[in-house]
Amino acid sequence: MHEWIAILDFGSQYSQLIARRLRERRVYCELLRHDTTAARLRERPPRGIILSGGPASVLEKGAPGCDPGLYAMGVPLLGVCYGMQLMGRDLGGAVRPGEKREYGLARLEVLEADALFRALPETMPVWMSHGDQVERLPPGFRALARTATCPHAAMADDARRMYGLQFHPEVVHTPHGGEILNHFLFNICGCSGDWRMSSIIEERVAQMRERIGGEHVILGLSGGVDSSVVAALLHRAVGDRLHAIFVDNGLLRYKEAEQVRDVFANTFGVDLRAPSAGPLFLERLRGVTDPEQKRKIIGRTFIDVFADEARKLGPVRFLAQGTLYPDVIESASPIGGPSATIKSHHNVGGLPPDLQFELVEPLRDLFKDEVRQMGRELGLPESIVDRQPFPGPGLAVRILGEVTPGAVETLQQADLRVQEEIAKLPAHREIWQAFAVLLPVRSVGVMGDGRTYENVVAVRAVSSQDGMTADWYRLPYETLDAIARRIINEVRGVNRVVFDISSKPPSTIEWE
Ligand code: XMP
Repeated sequence: MHEWIAILDFGSQYSQLIARRLRERRVYCELLRHDTTAARLRERPPRGIILSGGPASVLEKGAPGCDPGLYAMGVPLLGVCYGMQLMGRDLGGAVRPGEKREYGLARLEVLEADALFRALPETMPVWMSHGDQVERLPPGFRALARTATCPHAAMADDARRMYGLQFHPEVVHTPHGGEILNHFLFNICGCSGDWRMSSIIEERVAQMRERIGGEHVILGLSGGVDSSVVAALLHRAVGDRLHAIFVDNGLLRYKEAEQVRDVFANTFGVDLRAPSAGPLFLERLRGVTDPEQKRKIIGRTFIDVFADEARKLGPVRFLAQGTLYPDVIESASPIGGPSATIKSHHNVGGLPPDLQFELVEPLRDLFKDEVRQMGRELGLPESIVDRQPFPGPGLAVRILGEVTPGAVETLQQADLRVQEEIAKLPAHREIWQAFAVLLPVRSVGVMGDGRTYENVVAVRAVSSQDGMTADWYRLPYETLDAIARRIINEVRGVNRVVFDISSKPPSTIEWE
């Protein structure tokens, strides 16, 4: 059994960050519901358990708790923020209600440079985000550190290997947080940190071989990172028993369909079925201007084309999907139950009854950056691994109004200029998405001696962590200038370029 750490999630915005930090240290971990029982953990014993932070107060009735059995498992325990307060309460200490002033940056004074603080400075900045604190330590614990307003900012019971931190070691505002986590993982839990991408790939390939056996598997390949990595992985696992279906909906970026065909069919030798369905999509979109209507038509048409292609293969048992960890984590919101989000738009949902498959989801426990790393190790080109998110309905949601063949071509050309200029920026990785939008308005311009009356292109560039919120990206004036000049000079039918300076919320990233 591979070593792992269980993180029980009490709903903090930072819970996923704890998982990221552990995995960066090559320690495999899983985020579990806060009420996961000791009995369940014993089935597959973790090396350690972390109780995450959370927005509730342990002093409130109905505050989320953990199975008291966890405290008797003999497995090292680290409570972070709410997790520490919970330990304080459950193990016989006292918690006092919060005051706002303990929020934010604080200076930590280390009282004992041992256990979690070995070889660290005597004082250090730490990030606090909860007012409640452990006022009286539970029996057996001693204080390891304090701040001006919090006498027990870290606590330890070495005999039982239980630790608590009032602050968040996982955030960047706690610069020594990584070392504190290292002490917990490697000295206290005895982890070896041997979780390597190469071994994950090997393990995954073996699992997929076993699961799929001599059967066949279908994959809906979108050209995005996730499905591309699934394709590369499954191809390694089952070779030509993988059948990838790439629906070319005619709404992709410039040369994107060619690139996908080239990489998968030519370089990897995947059995790639790539029906060119652009004309069908455009015909069904003719005259449609309502954004929701467009999305529905595209979704339905995708299913039709995909199903036709799948039927040609005869009966196939498995369907592979590029579901990622953030889509399946059952996060423990103290207010509601599990809030698992399913990104249905990426998945091949709603298939007709004659096409029913068993799902295989080989990336289900990985974060996006891990999937990218896996893609690189599997030999996918950077242009795919580092690709920006791209909406399923493609350019149709970036052509406001009716989607015509001419509009698609104009937008592809304008967008190509945006991509080329953005790629020149040294910091282009800070940009979550950058693209062009074709507006259904025309404005007056002059070209040479003549007057023009042509379309407007909007340029959108945003920074974001996960697409849920986004800020408009401060592109350098020179980049904006180059984009505008090139689009106006080189793309027919466009005589004006504007830059979108709205953030999400209240705007969205896409325009439709
Ligand atoms: P919005 O426009 O809602 O977009 O701020 C958030 C993120 O989701 C992407 N997006 C989609 N992705 N199918 C997808 O696969 C869709 O229908 C879709 N709509 C938006 C968008 O590009 C951004 O990254």
